[in-house]
Amino acid sequence: MANVGIFVGSSGGVTLGAAEKLQELFEGSELINMEEDYDGLEQFDDFDILLIGSSTWGQGDPQRDWVDVLYEMQNDEPDLSGKKVAFFGAGDQKTHGEHFVSALAKMEDVFKKCGAKTGFGYWPTENYNYKFSLAEKEGKFCGLAIDDINQGDFTENRVISWAEQLKKEMGIEDD
Ligand SMILES: Cc1cc2nc3c(=O)[nH]c(=O)nc-3n(C[C@H](O)[C@H](O)[C@H](O)COP(=O)(O)O)c2cc1C
Repeated sequence: MANVGIFVGSSGGVTLGAAEKLQELFEGSELINMEEDYDGLEQFDDFDILLIGSSTWGQGDPQRDWVDVLYEMQNDEPDLSGKKVAFFGAGDQKTHGEHFVSALAKMEDVFKKCGAKTGFGYWPTENYNYKFSLAEKEGKFCGLAIDDINQGDFTENRVISWAEQLKKEMGIEDD
């Protein structure tokens, strides 16, 4: 199994719950809660594959524990070339449907700028109902969109399917 780091920012625990499930599904992976476990950009160096999780807040912004980190990344541009990166996160398509899970796109832009290989884990927009999302690119979300508030029953299966998709796309084999 490849070396997988799951970095997650979550205020209410929804994206964290998805991250914990992903940790189970990617054997030997490490879960880094941005609030408690993150200690600097060098931490990305420990992994070949990064699964980056954040819920969306404000006007389509990443969760608060990511804000300074993304700002630092934009300025310092740490070298993430060679790393495969995918994004996931929670939102609310009904009450915040004007910017549903837009944080995924903002994070993808920053990781791409640092040379990371993105484009993994793009996810169909069917079965969601929202007005606008920055994360919609070429007809798909640029990562896994979770909506526990309106579609809680779908969350676990979405995470499981996404993990299977990623393993295929990234060429990860279970031990
Ligand atoms: C003040 C506020 C602003 C929000 N803004 C957005 C938004 O722009 N887009 C979105 O998809 N969800 C938005 N949400 C919904 C949260 O992302 C949602 O509650 C999510 O489940 C939180 O996930 P977490 O528990 O992982 O932090 C917002 C929620 C609140 C309370």
